[in-house]
Amino acid sequence: MRRRLIAGNWKMNTHWNEALTLVAELVHTEAQENWADTDVAIFPPSLYSRHAIEFIQNAKSGIAVGVQNCASTENGAYTGELSASMIREIGAKAVLIGHSERREYFQETNETLLAKTKLALSAQLTPYFCCGELLQDRKSDQHKEVVTRQLSSTVLTLSKEDMLTTVIAYEPVWAIGTGETASPEQAQEMHALIRQLIADAFGREVADVVRILYGGSMKPDNADALLSQPDVDGGLIGGASLKAADFSAIIRA
Ligand code: 13P
Repeated sequence: MRRRLIAGNWKMNTHWNEALTLVAELVHTEAQENWADTDVAIFPPSLYSRHAIEFIQNAKSGIAVGVQNCASTENGAYTGELSASMIREIGAKAVLIGHSERREYFQETNETLLAKTKLALSAQLTPYFCCGELLQDRKSDQHKEVVTRQLSSTVLTLSKEDMLTTVIAYEPVWAIGTGETASPEQAQEMHALIRQLIADAFGREVADVVRILYGGSMKPDNADALLSQPDVDGGLIGGASLKAADFSAIIRA
């Protein structure tokens, strides 16, 4: 049985005080509500991660902290980059890889993303590997092919053990930050496809374990319908993760 996983990608949002407040509000809400059936993770800007981790540890909270990106190389002269092992050392548990914003604005290729995924795994970080089609791919009925290509040259080449610790996030680009969400049926169709690809590559037992999250304008009012789909194991939430009330409403959905 797959445990539900709700993760908040804060992107380049919040300033220091807002970040501290948001972490404190989430920890407070968690203490008041029963989140026992759900794993919760947040991905604040990496500058704030260490503080978030300490706060969460001191409060004995179960919220995991991840970062939004890591370098595709181990260490060395790469100004501005953070390596997977540095990220692990500060107590982070996970890293987002291949978010469509990274693919688009930072020209990240599948080759780079595979290198990042492998470094994350060897640093004992859980990679949240993102995939998803553009609006034009959906309109031209190419969405399945696009996502199949994104996964075939990356996570589907991993070892079985590594696949088992990887989380997949399906995020149709046309639904990110647009207020337009995939319908529950569209999400289910793509999640079932992704699970089938994993089954073809690694066998059904592996496919039954890997968690596949939906991301793209998930909000308190549409979370329940999306999360009740059999292959939707959770959500990767952008905008709605910046308000503790909205994020926790999704966790409760
Ligand atoms: P929104 O929830 O703001 O659409 O963002 C989704 C996303 O990109 C999460 O990684």
